[in-house]
Amino acid sequence: MPDFPDIPRHIAVIMDGNGRWAKERGLPRREGHRAGAESVREVTDTCIDLGVEYLTLYAFSSENWNRPQAEIKALMELLDRFLSEKAKDLKKQDIRLLAIGQLDRLPEKTRKLLERLSAETAHHKALTLVLALSYGAREEIVSAARALAADAAAGRLKPEEIDCTVFASRLQTAGIPDPDLLVRTSGEMRVSNFLLWQISYAEIVIVKKFWPDFRRNDLTEAVNEYQRRHRRFGAL
Ligand code: FPP
Repeated sequence: MPDFPDIPRHIAVIMDGNGRWAKERGLPRREGHRAGAESVREVTDTCIDLGVEYLTLYAFSSENWNRPQAEIKALMELLDRFLSEKAKDLKKQDIRLLAIGQLDRLPEKTRKLLERLSAETAHHKALTLVLALSYGAREEIVSAARALAADAAAGRLKPEEIDCTVFASRLQTAGIPDPDLLVRTSGEMRVSNFLLWQISYAEIVIVKKFWPDFRRNDLTEAVNEYQRRHRRFGAL
């Protein structure tokens, strides 16, 4: 693994601006998503080259279900194509694939593909690629709270035993270190219900470019910005 100084162990990305990228070019929105899938490929490769261990991509939010059916369908087809085409590379590049979110809401074909690839790549070590799909952080937190409440009600857990570590172990990201760096494209300064618990101490880098224009150099620049910042975790 490459050994660059102070490389973020975990990068999380809000991939924003596909629609505006397409609109600027007079293209349908799905063309923006298609070009965005190319950025996903390039950013994944760059993470491996830099030695980043975890990359979490916000690929479809719980709110995205409110988009027109045709756009949802195009996104799911794009995801299926990406997963099918990427299957060989996951093996070649030693990438472990994980998915978080309300996966039972996804089309069966997509869910099955994700299950198969996650199982097949479970032992891979170079990079863990986490796709957040049908994901919402509030929903994730509520679900963890519900599981803890059920354990407490059944007498398996005392309420006073619940601390940050126990709580985090019930999130879908259990076992994954918190993101060190959160990148959002298209210049928007929002976290949009993404990993609300996990980004507590993340450095946030906002990039003006739309996601389909975000490529290798842009990720390297965001990492450089991260390295320039003094990380104090609330201490002096
Ligand atoms: C935000 O742009 C992007 C999305 C809702 C979807 C992200 C999906 C991809 C990058 C492609 C497929 C993903 C993978 C993992 C292959 P937007 O549509 O909200 O843009 P806008 O704000 O300009 O309308």
